[in-house]
Amino acid sequence: MASSKSFSILSLLLFFASVSFCYATSRFTHHPAFPPQSSKAERLIRSLNLFPKETFNIIDSDHLHSFVPGQIVEKNFSFLAHSGPSVEDLGHHAGYYSLPHSKAARMFYFFFESRKNKNDPVVIWLTGGPGCGSELALFYENGPFHITKNLSLTWNDYGWDQASNIIFVDQPTGTGFSYSSDNSDLRHDETGVSNDLYNFLQAFFKAHPEFVKNEFYITGESYAGHYIPALASRINQNNKMKKGIHINLKGIAIGNGLTNSPIQYEIYPEFALQNGLITKNESDDISKLIPNCDKKAKACESRGGTICEDALDACEAIFDRILSIVGDLNYYDIRKKCVGPLCYDFSNVEKLLNEEKVKSALGVRKELKYVSCSRAVYDAMLQDTMRNLEVFLPGLLEDGIKMLVYNGEKDLICNWLGNLRWVNAMNWSGQKAFRASPTLKFVVDGAEAGTLNSYGPLAFLKVHDAGHMVPMDQPKAALQMLERWMGGKLMNSTLDN
Ligand SMILES: *[C@@H]1O[C@H](CO)[C@@H](O)[C@H](O)[C@H]1NC(C)=O
Ligand SMILES: *[C@@H]1O[C@H](CO)[C@@H](O)[C@H](O)[C@H]1NC(C)=O
Ligand SMILES: *[C@@H]1O[C@H](CO)[C@@H](O)[C@H](O)[C@H]1NC(C)=O
Ligand SMILES: *[C@@H]1O[C@H](CO)[C@@H](O)[C@H](O)[C@H]1NC(C)=O
Ligand SMILES: *[C@@H]1O[C@H](CO)[C@@H](O)[C@H](O)[C@H]1NC(C)=O
Repeated sequence: MASSKSFSILSLLLFFASVSFCYATSRFTHHPAFPPQSSKAERLIRSLNLFPKETFNIIDSDHLHSFVPGQIVEKNFSFLAHSGPSVEDLGHHAGYYSLPHSKAARMFYFFFESRKNKNDPVVIWLTGGPGCGSELALFYENGPFHITKNLSLTWNDYGWDQASNIIFVDQPTGTGFSYSSDNSDLRHDETGVSNDLYNFLQAFFKAHPEFVKNEFYITGESYAGHYIPALASRINQNNKMKKGIHINLKGIAIGNGLTNSPIQYEIYPEFALQNGLITKNESDDISKLIPNCDKKAKACESRGGTICEDALDACEAIFDRILSIVGDLNYYDIRKKCVGPLCYDFSNVEKLLNEEKVKSALGVRKELKYVSCSRAVYDAMLQDTMRNLEVFLPGLLEDGIKMLVYNGEKDLICNWLGNLRWVNAMNWSGQKAFRASPTLKFVVDGAEAGTLNSYGPLAFLKVHDAGHMVPMDQPKAALQMLERWMGGKLMNSTLDN
C-alpha cells in the first residue's frame, strides 16, 4: 500500500519535471535523433514509462444524470479552521462549474475574497502547461497560503488576495481537479479554452452579482500567454456586442508567457549566448535551425492542423540543442541547477490535495486524484503551441485595455528577451512611442526591483532576481506590481509609492 502510493507520487513528480509550465520538454521523447548523451532526455523517457495510463481524471458516467450544463456548485471552506476567522469571514470558496459545451466536463476553481476590501478588483489567475493546475501558483506563488513542511498552511503575506478578489481555475478540462466522464471533452485550441472560460465567468458573476461592478483583470503565467489574449479578446468582443453579463475588463497581465511562439523559439540561441550558457560558435550552429522553425511556423499560422505539430518539433529542436549543452540547468531559472530528478520540489501540493479531508472540505469527489500537470491535456493542445496569440492584442490596446507583460529575468524557457521582442514588434498605434519610451526603475522598498518601459496602456516590466515564477521568487515585488498596475500607478514606480 505504502509503496504503491510512493511509486505513483514519484512517477507524477518525474512527469511533472518533464512538463514545463511553458510547454513540455517531454517532447524530447518524440525526437528519436535526440543526442543519447543527454541524461535529462533519458530521465524523461523513463519517467514517461512510469506514468500511469490515466493522465487526467475520467470518472465513470454513474452520475451523468446529475450533469446540469451551466450549473455552479460552490461551497465555503476553511483551511485554517482552528486558527481564528470563521468560514464566512474568510470568504474562501471552492466550486465546480459544469461546462455547457461538453458531454460532462466540470471545471474546478477556488475563489478567495480580498483580505482587505471586497471592492478590490476581481482577478482571475491562469497557470500554464498546458495542463498544470492553478494550485501550483496558489500554494507556491500568489495564493493566500503557503504549505509548510508538515503540510499545514500559513498565510502568505504577499498573496494577491491582499489586493484583489482572486479566482484560480483548473483548466483546460482534465487539469487539476477538473474532470469529465468523456475524453472528447479535452480541448485542442484557444477557441475551446476561451469559450469555457468565458462561460465560466458568466456563471461566476451570476453567482456573485456583488462583484460584477468591480474592475476585472486577467493574469497568469507561461502557457497562459496563449490563454490570456484569447480570453480577453472573447470578453471584449461580447462586451462590445452587449452579449451576456458585462465583464468589467480593465487589463491583462502576462507573466513569463508564451505568446508569440515563433519569435520566442527563435530567440533561444541569442538569449543563451547573452547569458553565457553557450558559446558564440554553438549559438551560430544552433541558429541554423531557425529558418526551418520559421518556415514551418508560418505554414502553421496559415494552414493550421498537423503542420503545427511539425512546426513545434522544428522549433523545439532549437531548445533541445541548448538543453543538450547546458545539462542540468534549471531552465526556469538559469541561476539554479535541476537538483535530483526535479528542478523544483512541488510534491507537497499533491500530498495536501490528495488528503481525503482536504478533498472533502473542497467538495471534491474522493475518487479524483490531484495531478499537478496532465500529460493528456498537454498532448491535446499540441497543435495550439506554435500559434501566435499576439494577433489579439493590438485590438485590445486600441480599446484601452491595459496590458502588462512582466518577466523574471532569469527564466530561459519563456525569457524576457523573446517577450520584449514580440512586444516591440506588435503593430499598434502606440508602437513607436512605446519603443522610444525611457527605461525606468521599478523600485520596491527603496531598491531597484526591476526595469519598466511603458506607453499608454502597454507596460513591459523586467523583474530582477526572479525566474519563471515571479511571485514565488519576488513575492513582495510581485504584489506591489499588481497593486500599482491595477491602480494605474505603475509609471510612478520610481517614487516607491
Ligand atoms: C458562503 O459564505 C458567504 C459569505 O462569504 C455566504 O453569503 C454564503 O451564503 C455562504 N454559502 C454557503 C453555500 O454556505
Ligand atoms: C507544522 O509546522 C508549523 C510551522 O512550520 C508549526 O507551527 C505547526 O505546529 C506544525 N504542526 C504540526 C501538526 O506539527
Ligand atoms: C568556432 O568555429 C570555427 C569555424 O567553424 C572554428 O574554426 C573554431 O575552432 C571554433 N572555435 C571553437 C572554440 O570551437
Ligand atoms: C499595422 O496595422 C495597420 C492598421 O491595422 C495596417 O494598416 C498596417 O499595414 C500594419 N503595418 C504592418 C507593418 O503590418
Ligand atoms: C505620477 O507622478 C506625477 C508626478 O509626481 C503626478 O503628477 C501623477 O499624478 C502621478 N500619477 C499617478 C497615476 O499617480
